[in-house]
Amino acid sequence: MNLPPRVKLVEVGPRDGLQNEKGQVPTAIKIELVHRLQEAGLSEIEVTSFVSPKWVPQMADNAQVMAGIVRKAGVRYSVLTPNLQGFEAALNSRPDEIVVFGAASEAFSQKNINCSIAQSIERFAPVVQAARAAGIYVRGAMSCALGCPYEGEVAPERVGYLAGLMKGIGVQHVGVADTIGVGTPRKVQGAIEATLKHFAIDDVSGHFHDTYGQALANTLVSLQLGVWQFDTSIAGLGGCPYAKGATGNVATEDVVYLLHGMGIETGIDLDRLVDAGKFISEFLQRKPGSRAAMALLNRRTP
Ligand code: HMG
Ligand code: MG
Repeated sequence: MNLPPRVKLVEVGPRDGLQNEKGQVPTAIKIELVHRLQEAGLSEIEVTSFVSPKWVPQMADNAQVMAGIVRKAGVRYSVLTPNLQGFEAALNSRPDEIVVFGAASEAFSQKNINCSIAQSIERFAPVVQAARAAGIYVRGAMSCALGCPYEGEVAPERVGYLAGLMKGIGVQHVGVADTIGVGTPRKVQGAIEATLKHFAIDDVSGHFHDTYGQALANTLVSLQLGVWQFDTSIAGLGGCPYAKGATGNVATEDVVYLLHGMGIETGIDLDRLVDAGKFISEFLQRKPGSRAAMALLNRRTP
């Protein structure tokens, strides 16, 4: 196996993980979670999103969360911005990176951001331009790259089409996102290869929800293709309010266990990561959605 020696994980728990929670998670808990994640060694954290609070009430405290974080040197903080209004609100929070989020399927684009794929690109273009002018790095998320909750199958060509549109407006990096966790490794290969027609391997990441238990296999096949950046979520939290039935992202703890087991460096301390997962899981009154975390926690109890 030809695998990258080092992998960068983008922790999306505070955003993707918590956006879907029904009960309001206090701002202080979100801030504490970010602090614990950075202490565990995560160097990229997707903190929140500047979206409409009517659409996603859980992220309404976006500015307060960003303001409350004690930033750690070397850590980069990103936020989602669907339009100029969101970007302008986010600017005061000084994000290192913003994320514009589009979809490979028309139906999901409509349900999630209330516009067509073409309209979304029109909306993102000035956001990308303004961000880059301000020296803020721009990532693009490509939802439903492996399947859509409304349209079903999504062909790799549609992922390639979206990647080309994102490239055309100046997006610097794209994530191949399995929003509903239906993908399997060959399908992932097709979506990544379609993306690589427009972006270099160093500018592509994987974002795999684990609804069908395929996310680790999908991570491994991506690694074999040379992808070395992945979005993961502490304790496997997550889901999208506009993708019913989808469960959380692949758990950061599980991916770190996989990578360290294969001798791949992450810079993350798995024990402290498990502690961070325990902290948020206890707050949410459930067990961590990570097999590795559960196994490690069970070993701690005499
Ligand atoms: P819209 O209703 O078409 O927007 O929503 P609009 O421009 O017509 O404005 C309507 C109202 O929204 C106005 O307020 C605006 O001020 C307000 P009103 O006059 O009614 O009081 N508004 C905003 N407020 C705050 N921040 C903003 C903003 N923009 C407008 N940025 C919109 C369009 C995009 C805003 C809406 O559809 C939305 O917020 N969608 C977000 C959905 C979302 O956050 N989904 C989850 C994140 S994506 C995800 O999880 C997938 C990912 O993880 C990858 C994967 O797994 O696939 C990234
Ligand atoms: Mg997601």
